Amino acid sequence: MKRMMVRVESNMERRGRPAALTLLLCAAMLPCVSSHSGQIDPLLYEEQLLWVSGGAGEVNTYRIPLLTFTPKGSLLAFAEARKQSPGDIGAKFIAMRRSLDKGATWSPTSFIIDDGVKTDGLNLGSVVVDEEAGSVILVYSICFHQYHCKPSSTMMVESRDDGLSWSSPKNLSVQLGVKSFAPGPGFGIQKRYNPAKGRLVVCGHGTLEGDGVFCILSDDHGLNWYNGAALKSIPYNQKKKAQDFNPDECQPFEMTDGSIVINVRNQNNYHCRCRVIVRSLDGGLSLPIDELFFDYTLVDPVVAAGALQKEGVLYFTNPASTDHRINLTLRWSLTNGSSWEGNALQIWPGPSGYSSMTSLDSGSAEDRKYVFVIYEKGHKDYFETVSFAKIHLYGGR
Ligand SMILES: *[C@@H]1O[C@H](CO)[C@@H](O)[C@H](O)[C@H]1NC(C)=O
Ligand SMILES: *[C@@H]1O[C@H](CO)[C@@H](O)[C@H](O)[C@H]1NC(C)=O
Ligand SMILES: *[C@@H]1O[C@H](CO)[C@@H](O)[C@H](O)[C@H]1NC(C)=O
Repeated sequence: MKRMMVRVESNMERRGRPAALTLLLCAAMLPCVSSHSGQIDPLLYEEQLLWVSGGAGEVNTYRIPLLTFTPKGSLLAFAEARKQSPGDIGAKFIAMRRSLDKGATWSPTSFIIDDGVKTDGLNLGSVVVDEEAGSVILVYSICFHQYHCKPSSTMMVESRDDGLSWSSPKNLSVQLGVKSFAPGPGFGIQKRYNPAKGRLVVCGHGTLEGDGVFCILSDDHGLNWYNGAALKSIPYNQKKKAQDFNPDECQPFEMTDGSIVINVRNQNNYHCRCRVIVRSLDGGLSLPIDELFFDYTLVDPVVAAGALQKEGVLYFTNPASTDHRINLTLRWSLTNGSSWEGNALQIWPGPSGYSSMTSLDSGSAEDRKYVFVIYEKGHKDYFETVSFAKIHLYGGR
């Protein structure tokens, strides 16, 4: 019923019915996408490379890009700066750049964390903004793979000055217990709606054997953390086989009804070569199987993907392919993810890997127009560069 109403509305838009009628229809339902700037028709508006692998200096490869808004309306971009090799294991910095003008220009790179010469160094990560406290929190792991080190630790740093300076790392495993937990990669959320308004929710995954989606929660602005929902792999704590149920890297976002949707990498292609979607109705305490489905439209080559809810519309980025990390594509849904619009936007046809999205939510006409994507992009290999793309949602109008 509601889906039909959305379609009626957009047909009317095309025929140019009087604004008053559109507004009337909009008032009766969500999402209301047409009263403001017309129909969603995304355009790749601006793009620039933030990091290039194999360049000068102490960095071999930049990977695992994260992007966030800040309470002051800036953008922060982060990536793992892998010192010796492109591999997941090994010593790294966390690289960061800031933009104070909505992505037009960026500060030089600062390396906000240096793990030294670790055999199994840090891995990113989730960035979560606490709008109530005005802070930005970055959660990452060290020794995730337990390669020549023990145990794995979950770490946190915090900035209270818009990303200019960062606290010294705090070891969250003291509160959470010792476990291999790789947050994100992507953003964590602060609940804007009940249940649990104000809660910080960071979701990630476990080790390849003890894998699954796990969320950690904080109800006091990141001072104390505790373990929330777990969606465990099957068989849990045993070596997996092809097609086993193995939910992995994930991106949570909040719906306007206060539920949390998590868009999940389907590590062993259980049931489909597509994304697993699961929803929490209790602020991240549980992920019931009743709320899990496979989104056949969101075909996926087993990768970390971007997902976002903005003004009732869902956005999704990944390399749109069942078996290759190529063809980075933006899709959008006007039906809470039960269907996706047919005219997807191809951002980059070539090699492309992990992606993450953010948006500024001041409510200003300017901020309503854009979503921002950060992704791994290359010509031969997807990890040659990290690129920032500014997407105009209304075709540049
Ligand atoms: C973090 O805390 C856990 C639990 O107390 C401990 O086992 C681990 O060694 C700590 N990690 C670091 C890097 O200090
Ligand atoms: C989408 O979900 C929201 C609640 O999160 C609801 O208000 C809205 O009506 C739903 N829209 C559609 C098209 O189903
Ligand atoms: C890229 O993705 C788009 C959107 O799904 C699709 O139409 C196109 O065929 C894909 N291209 C390749 C080369 O896979």
